[in-house]
Amino acid sequence: MGLFDGFKKKPKAGESLTKEQIEQAEKQLEESYTDRLVYSAENIIEQKEAPTEETAEVFEEVDESALDEVEEADTEAASSQEEIPYKEIKSYSEKAPVTRVIGQTKIISIINQKGGVGKSTTAVNLAAALGELGRQVLVVDLDPQGNTSSGLGIEKSKIEYCVYDALLNDVPLEEIIIPDVCPGLDLVPATINLAGAEVELVSEIARENRLKDAVGRFRGKYDYIFIDCPPSLGLLTINAFVAADKLLIPIQCEFYALEGVTKLLDSMKRVKSRLNPTLDIFGVLLTMYDGRTILSKQVAAEVKNFFGKIVFETLIPRTVKLSEAPSFGQPITQYDPNGKGAQSYVSLAKEVIARG
Ligand SMILES: Nc1ncnc2c1ncn2[C@@H]1O[C@H](COP(=O)(O)OP(=O)(O)OP(=O)(O)O)[C@@H](O)[C@H]1O
Ligand SMILES: [Mg+2]
Repeated sequence: MGLFDGFKKKPKAGESLTKEQIEQAEKQLEESYTDRLVYSAENIIEQKEAPTEETAEVFEEVDESALDEVEEADTEAASSQEEIPYKEIKSYSEKAPVTRVIGQTKIISIINQKGGVGKSTTAVNLAAALGELGRQVLVVDLDPQGNTSSGLGIEKSKIEYCVYDALLNDVPLEEIIIPDVCPGLDLVPATINLAGAEVELVSEIARENRLKDAVGRFRGKYDYIFIDCPPSLGLLTINAFVAADKLLIPIQCEFYALEGVTKLLDSMKRVKSRLNPTLDIFGVLLTMYDGRTILSKQVAAEVKNFFGKIVFETLIPRTVKLSEAPSFGQPITQYDPNGKGAQSYVSLAKEVIARG
């Protein structure tokens, strides 16, 4: 029975209340949460007789305002479940004129075959923070999940070409880039089509170099190019190893934080010796750090002990806002610009700039 059902049949002045109605009103008294409802139910119980014209009016009022309340709550719930407020998709030819590119382009792959460690969150928010600091940034979403694309407010079903087309159909990146998704920030999006790339690339010539060839032409056009990798060490990730100048490795502050890191470093060494001799680690980033727990502190110490100085000073805290922002299609610098999450990614962006 609904909260307000007991009041659906409104007693008229002079009409006496049935036992059932009184019981319902008593029940309502226990359950109701609005003061006015309690007030009117108390009234009825006290009188235990026909309500006067006045109390009938109160009923009328309560009933209507209660319905309004329910309606309001429904609208609120509906709006909170709304789809991501997607952005308009522009073409590269509509890109705002680039004012300046500072220094050489750095291509950085955000890599860790472990899932859910904060790769996409870092790709979106670090890139946006650098954009806000006046840098020109391109983010390449190399994960078929497309979390970076939707996190930046791009509706994947509206995308004509994605990074898959650059890797397998020789579509030039100019036709794939979505410009100005945020200040200073362009995106090469991913769709689920990319899931087929792992298999389809196997039989291709120079399959490990596809991304390097596509992205390499954009040196000089951006300060930073970030590649957000999938959680595997398959051919897509190998393409990211080959295309990159440096690697950024996010590590989540949790049990087994360093699990799999040896394998990641082994893969890096193999690529370095055969395909990309200058490849190196740019930095290791501790994510989802919770300063209240001893575990987070222990993991941070362990990671610093293992990697030494390449661990960024900035720790990315675990915050609800950082996990909410993607569902609004916004980086944290827009969604919650003054919060801890935004501050930490801006501080990371400054460290990235300082590292050259
Ligand atoms: N600092 C943080 N605080 C709170 N939640 C976070 C934080 N960083 C990431 N998350 C949340 O944790 C989940 C995993 O993060 P994310 O998608 O960035 O990881 P990933 O490494 O890209 O995952 P995958 O390997 O699946 O691509 C997401 O729901 C994200 O919103
Ligand atoms: Mg991801």
